Amino acid sequence: MKAGMSLDDPSSKRQAYRLKKQENREELKHVRIDASAKTEKMDLPRKRFYRQRAHSNPFSDHQLEYPVNPDEMDWQKLYPHFFDEATNRMTKQVTIADIGCGFGGLLIDLSPEFPENLILGMEIRVQVTNYVEDRIIALRTNHADNNSFQNINVLRGNAMKFLPNFFHKSQLEKMFFCFPDPHFKQRKHKARIITNTLLSEYAYALKEGGIIYTITDVLDLHQWMAKHLEEHPLFERLSSDWEDQDKCVQIMRNATEEGKKVERKKGDKYVACFVRIPNPEIV
Ligand SMILES: C[S@@+](CC[C@H](N)C(=O)[O-])C[C@H]1O[C@@H](n2cnc3c(N)ncnc32)[C@H](O)[C@@H]1O
Repeated sequence: MKAGMSLDDPSSKRQAYRLKKQENREELKHVRIDASAKTEKMDLPRKRFYRQRAHSNPFSDHQLEYPVNPDEMDWQKLYPHFFDEATNRMTKQVTIADIGCGFGGLLIDLSPEFPENLILGMEIRVQVTNYVEDRIIALRTNHADNNSFQNINVLRGNAMKFLPNFFHKSQLEKMFFCFPDPHFKQRKHKARIITNTLLSEYAYALKEGGIIYTITDVLDLHQWMAKHLEEHPLFERLSSDWEDQDKCVQIMRNATEEGKKVERKKGDKYVACFVRIPNPEIV
């Protein structure tokens, strides 16, 4: 806490809360929490202490940490439950990615639906990432008896820059883009998370048959994402019948914090899903 601040000052309360959570996070972030740890029940983090500017410039230098290549990534730290001491290897790899995961609602709802998959949220904002980390620590602690929420975690990262540093070719089965920042002004469109160049990176990381899920309440952004995906040679749009029967579409409509906000305001939600098709044969 800064000198001269009192604990009645809201900003110092926030500082004190953040410091306490940071200590807790540093202690438990990479620890294997299970029933044998006998940790006491933990309060879920309070979002108001993690507020941060809504937008982060994806082109700024964020001094992010990232591996030189996917083999250098230490996944054990994020998913200690899936590390096999005997072989010194992970038993699973990440197959589902939530790009720009925000406060992590989708990760939490996907977790029990895909207990055999590792699910990763990637988020560029520091405080928002801290919130998701604290949320996952608390959930793992409070459900240590049945090992729930061991298959989800979050990374602070810029998905527009470093995705191939984290994922091998064809590693992912699903990628979610839920309510991405709309970057309304035309001169800002290049900051959108779906562009032709970025789609080629997503196609690299996705396996054949893998799915890109998009949802937004901004019609112009929906049309932009659908158009870029339709024009890309490695993606094909899935029908609305397919969307209606897919459980992930139902989850992404309702699980994310932005989705809930749109629901409260009775706004529209536009969905578009695309399958990664095989590379064309070169003759
Ligand atoms: C409008 S919020 C939506 C959050 C969440 N998906 C939801 O539906 O509640 C968009 C999120 O994407 C994050 N973001 C924007 N650009 C990003 C990037 N290049 N890499 C990772 N995260 C990014 C933002 O910080 C923000 O939390």
